[in-house]
Amino acid sequence: MNAFKNLLTRYFEPVLVAVIILILLFIDMFVVDKVVFLYFYFIPVLVAGYYIGKKGAVLSSIMTVLIVTLRLVISPETFSIRSKVDFDLVFQIVTWGSFLVLSSYVVGRLYEEKEARYRDLKQSYVGVIEILVKYIESVDRYTKGHSVRVADIAMDIARSMSLTREACENIKVAALLHDVGKIDVSMDLIKKAAALTKDERQVMNSHSERGANILNKVGNVLSDAVPIVLAHHEYFSKKEEDNLKVKADVPLGARIIAVADTYDAIVTDRPYRKGKLPWQALEEIEKSSGTQFDPEVVEAFRHVVSTYMEEQEHVSV
Ligand SMILES: [Fe+2]
Repeated sequence: MNAFKNLLTRYFEPVLVAVIILILLFIDMFVVDKVVFLYFYFIPVLVAGYYIGKKGAVLSSIMTVLIVTLRLVISPETFSIRSKVDFDLVFQIVTWGSFLVLSSYVVGRLYEEKEARYRDLKQSYVGVIEILVKYIESVDRYTKGHSVRVADIAMDIARSMSLTREACENIKVAALLHDVGKIDVSMDLIKKAAALTKDERQVMNSHSERGANILNKVGNVLSDAVPIVLAHHEYFSKKEEDNLKVKADVPLGARIIAVADTYDAIVTDRPYRKGKLPWQALEEIEKSSGTQFDPEVVEAFRHVVSTYMEEQEHVSV
């Protein structure tokens, strides 16, 4: 069921167009009194306006009017019992067509205005989150900029996997906030250069849960980021105690952030070691493909790292 929902979300626009075409074919083939059903064309055209925007809606309404007009000219008997076109019918169709185009324009415009406001709002809160994260991370020079870099890498992987714009944006927000639970962990522990004790490691590991709790309190705006933040250190596949069952319930966003997070940790200098090169980090991540990391994400990440290395080569030439 989830796979069907994901598929529908991913290919929503082509599915919508196919449904509209099927409805039109159905009306054309099976409905006898087509004049009465002309008003039915408002539904697909207005839905197109709501989901695709002004341009798509106006185009589809004009196409609909043209098809109906063509049909009226070629076979007037499908609209009227008489074989000749009567002027009342022409007037009725002109009025219908004008309202159809006008309605599609209005709905499409309202949709675009709503989308623009939503984008502005989202951009603003992503900007505020970036400032907040930069401020939180500025206290430690080794983690400085980590979340912003992880967000950029995660977005590149998500785009390489052809995820929807909405999914990419959710992943960006979750990546920016993936370590927000660390604000509940003592600063001395975060900055500690020496190896952590077992208890300290446990406290440190609880930052995913602490982060999810913090975000839960914010409400609906960040609700999509909560399961991703909670699972960003989960292994893609985990051998259960008795049967080698694969644990694949980690959200895709968390699987992407896990790779981006590990890559940034490997290539960045730490108090106890120097950062490695991108290809070395890729090799390390590939070793854990299928266990710690999702192989599909690692495959997409390989393409992303190749572009990073090409860019570095261009800069150094
Ligand atoms: Fe983390």
